[in-house]
Parts: sequence; C-alpha cells; structure tokens
Amino acid sequence: MTEEQTNILDQLEAVRAEALEALRGAKDENDLLAWRARYLGKAAPVMAAFQQLRNAAPDLRPLIGQKANEVKNALEAALTEFGEQVKQARLRASLAGDKLDVTLPGRQPERGRLHPTTQTLREIYRIFAEMGFQVFQSTEVELDEINYGKLNFPLHHPARDMQDTFFTTDPDVLLRTHTSPGQYHAMRHFHPEPIRVILPGMCYRYEQVTYRSEIQFNQVELLVVGENVTFGDLIGTLEDFVHRMFTPDTHIRLRPNYFPFTEPSAEMDVECFICGGKGCQVCKHSGWLEILGCGMVHPNVLRNGGYDPEKYSGFAAGMGPERITMLKHHITDIRYFWGNDLRFLQQF
Ligand code: DAH
Repeated sequence: MTEEQTNILDQLEAVRAEALEALRGAKDENDLLAWRARYLGKAAPVMAAFQQLRNAAPDLRPLIGQKANEVKNALEAALTEFGEQVKQARLRASLAGDKLDVTLPGRQPERGRLHPTTQTLREIYRIFAEMGFQVFQSTEVELDEINYGKLNFPLHHPARDMQDTFFTTDPDVLLRTHTSPGQYHAMRHFHPEPIRVILPGMCYRYEQVTYRSEIQFNQVELLVVGENVTFGDLIGTLEDFVHRMFTPDTHIRLRPNYFPFTEPSAEMDVECFICGGKGCQVCKHSGWLEILGCGMVHPNVLRNGGYDPEKYSGFAAGMGPERITMLKHHITDIRYFWGNDLRFLQQF
C-alpha cells in the first residue's frame, strides 16, 4: 500500500472515530442536527473524500470509495441509533422531572339543564299539587275512538277538522291530537271515586308550523269530576292557577267557544305580557294570549267514562305549557322550543 493510500484511509478512520466520539457528547436534538451538518453535511470530510475520488489515481479509487462509503454508512447508522437514545432519554427525564400539576384547573364539562318547557311543566305540577291535583299519565298513541269518539266527536262530524290528525298505518290508531282523551282513561281508572287530576304530555297535529303553532307540543289537561262541581269552581281554579303561575294581579278573560266534549265551553286568555296588552304578532294584535280551552264536562263524556251525569258533574281544561313559557319569558316564536339552538336553551 502506498503512503497516499494509507493516508487517506487513515484520515477516514480518524474521522469516523472523531465523529462517533462527538456523537456520544450530543445531549439534545439541536446537538444532533449540528453533528449531522458537521459529519454528514456537504462539507463533511467523508463527503469531501468522495469529491477527491476524481483526482485520485485510478487504482486507488475503489479502495478509497469503499472506505468512504463504509464510514458514511457507519455514521448514518450511529446517528439513527443514538438519535433514538437521545429522544428516549429526554422523555424519561421529562417524566421524572416535570411532575404532573394536579392543581391546574381541568376543562369544565358542559352542564345540561332542563328544557324551558320542562321547567314550566314542573311549575304547573307544583301549583296543581298544592291545589290537590294528582298527575295522571296517558298514552301518546291513541285510538281514534278515544281521541274523538269517547269525547263526543261524532264520526264524520266537522268538529274533527279542528284538529288535523297524524294517523298511523292503522286508520283506527293515531297520535293524540290533544290530552283530552286522557279524561276518558282517568274516568275509567278512578270510577266511581271523585277525580281531581292533571294529564300532561305531548300532542301532535298535522298543521302548518308558524311562530304560534308547532306540529308537536305539550298540553296539560285538567279534570275534576264529583258531585256539585260548578262553572264557578272552574273559573276559581283557573284564576287561582294564573295568579300563582304569573302574578297575583294578572288579568284573565273567558270567551265562549265550542268544544264537543264540554258544554258550556270557553277559551281563556291572559293579558299578553310580551306587549303589555298593546298588541303584537304573538297575540295577533289583540293584547290577549289564549292559553287554554275549558268547560263543563259534556254529559255524554261523563257517561262514556262511567259517571252518571244526573249525579255527577265535572269541569275540564287543556292548556299549552309552551304558550305559558312564551308569556313568562317574552319568547316571540314557538319554533325555538324544538329548534335545538343552545343560544336559546342556555338562557333558561
Ligand atoms: N283539547 C282541546 C284542544 O286541544 C283543548 C281543551 C278545550 C281541553 C276544552 C279541554 C276543554 O279539557 O275543556 O284544542
């Protein structure tokens, strides 16, 4: 081997030794990057050896090339291996050194809340409970015969058109259009005892959705049956309810109306809080908002329930908790209730 040969080969070996030594001193990724630039970058001695191949004597080229390749590969392998060790060491150090700070505040989970209608329903339950009413649950899927027939809606009578109906595939079965069919169930359940119940729940009507009406809404039905129950009892009960629900000086008014299952029948309005009685889109510019229908239970309905109308009388009412919520909170559009918009729901 010539002197020139040994020189270059020795130099490459020396570079390898120096580089590996230097690598062991690397402490972090920055050191590794600097090392890489220095020993494997364009100007690194190994790379320079490749450049010099051109000038070397032809018979030396394979030897030098081989050596240079060997050193370069060795350095690259060392970098990969040592780089991994540096990363692991750093991770171990940070796990050991940086203690988990459990005093840091955690992320607040979003807290749910009761839907405004549910809140109103609970308020209604509370008020009527104080007045001696119990809650009676009835079904949302109902027989046509009970939703209409037992409530004195004759078959094919135009009164059925007052409530656009969702029928099921079975024409005798429908989604209840109101909570009034619960009157029949309650009478059958309590007969022959006197009755004082409220019947809350979801009702469905296939009607155009506007700011006042939805196809799905809650109702709370009121039913009192006993001896000597009068229209005066009805008005007194409703007025008492309104005063407890709103304020003791809230005005109400009754307007005669027609319902097949009550006689006489009326609708009850409360003063529109949204406009203070001046008139707005919600109260149809009347200053009053209808919140319920009511009346004395029709003799046919009492009879269907098993009560002899000669001996018993009763009153009933059906109110809309969404309407009541609108009044209490000055909500101008009933569609918010099913809109599922948190900006609305979080206000209650
Ligand atoms: N069921 C009626 C409706 O949804 C409301 C109603 C009116 C209920 C008069 C009653 C009543 O109990 O007496 O339109």
